[in-house]
Amino acid sequence: MGQGRVAVIGSGYVGLTTGACLARLGHEVVCGDVDAAKVELLSRGEVPILEDGLPELVAEGLASGRLRFVHGAVAAISGADFVFLCLPTPDGGDGRADLRIVHAVVAEIGPFLERDAVLITKSTVPVGTAQQITATVQRPDVAVVSNPEFLQEGTAVRNFMNPDRVVVGSDSRAAAEAVAGLYDGLSCPQVVTSAESAELIKYAANAFLAMKLSFVNSVAALAEEVGADVGEITYGMGMDERIGSKFLKAGPGWGGSCFPKDTKALAAIALDHGVPFPLLDATTLSNDQAQDRVAEMVRQAAGGSVAGKRIALWGLTFKAGTDDLRDSPALEVAARLAESGAELVGHDPAVHRDLPIKPGQPTVRVVADPIEAAEGAEVLVVLTEWPQFAEVDLEVARAVSAGDVIVDARNLLDTAAAVGAGWTVVGVGRPTVRPGDPAGSAATDAQLPVVEVAGGETGL
Ligand code: UDX
Repeated sequence: MGQGRVAVIGSGYVGLTTGACLARLGHEVVCGDVDAAKVELLSRGEVPILEDGLPELVAEGLASGRLRFVHGAVAAISGADFVFLCLPTPDGGDGRADLRIVHAVVAEIGPFLERDAVLITKSTVPVGTAQQITATVQRPDVAVVSNPEFLQEGTAVRNFMNPDRVVVGSDSRAAAEAVAGLYDGLSCPQVVTSAESAELIKYAANAFLAMKLSFVNSVAALAEEVGADVGEITYGMGMDERIGSKFLKAGPGWGGSCFPKDTKALAAIALDHGVPFPLLDATTLSNDQAQDRVAEMVRQAAGGSVAGKRIALWGLTFKAGTDDLRDSPALEVAARLAESGAELVGHDPAVHRDLPIKPGQPTVRVVADPIEAAEGAEVLVVLTEWPQFAEVDLEVARAVSAGDVIVDARNLLDTAAAVGAGWTVVGVGRPTVRPGDPAGSAATDAQLPVVEVAGGETGL
């Protein structure tokens, strides 16, 4: 495996994971960040984000001397053969990615890059950014490579170490292959492309996954109307290998720091190039509808209106296993309920402070325990799929609540146990189950039986 001296600019969740994992692969890594306090914290081995396995990896890198943290981008690139840009590319307000930070850093470090260094974009950047960076850096000896990440928050270290593929794209095949060589310790295919293709692979992959989820959430809406169960439907669909069983779980809509921003950004890229791509707008629209639907389920569960009523929210982060609240569907649902006058009390294992939802709206009062959140609540709503919620004693929750309906927007709870405790359970994409109902189609995905039917010859 080729060893390299690596600089990583930006110690957010992508940069930090990339730096720590590259150090684990044997490279000398220096991570630079503008935030001096963060650099100090990381230099002491304190990891400010919730990411499984990352503190251990950072500690290991620091102890081996292969991982260091420094203040500033210029300090980080000294002696580096490879410079990864892991910088924020937020929504610029019109759906387009705002590249000001990327370009400012490139302009800053350009003159100080080592001879023949390779500059690598890791953050998700629009098509054409590699070309723009090449123009900004004005160094014929410096090649620019697009090497998008496919890390999921919460499992980023595992994703990095066991990738489905590594994608590297550049005008310079030699530079792309040199970057791919940094990952030689991992057993996965390496996809070498043009810079434009690599940039689009990332957007297309994220938007496709978001589209898959929007599709499933619309199927869930239909299932509710016709009395079907989305868990059964996706189970049957997912067995078709062309569809695949992953990313088919219905819920309160999708969120996080990537999907909403990237789906909108790809729509803007298509628009800018005059390419009709209606699926992208529909993907975002149907996500808004999924959030509207869950809010409406809660209103119905509260008797038609939530005004002045206390609603308990179990889960606030955009998914389980992370403390990230960015574009969280839970908060989108909360905002809709707050708009309708609800009093919101929330609990989330990773959130320890009251949360402002949107400007002008009251905060969600955050309590330390799911039972405390349920106290006096008219409706209990499960919004994030933290496995701990499935362990809560639902009889106790029922005893302290003012109401008897759970809206389980993640289809997480054991419906039979909930109904046994006196709850009516409204799930997403499946029939509502009430005490006294036969426990018919309340199976969770995991409980679905596979019935093998001995197949006769079809002659095909
Ligand atoms: C995503 C991509 O998966 C990753 O490849 C990319 O690099 C960054 O964006 P992440 O934002 O961490 O990762 O979230 P992910 O695990 O993909 O979940 C996104 C959203 O979809 C969450 O709100 C999650 O709850 C939701 N989701 C996911 C579902 O509703 N159902 C599913 O079956 C899967």
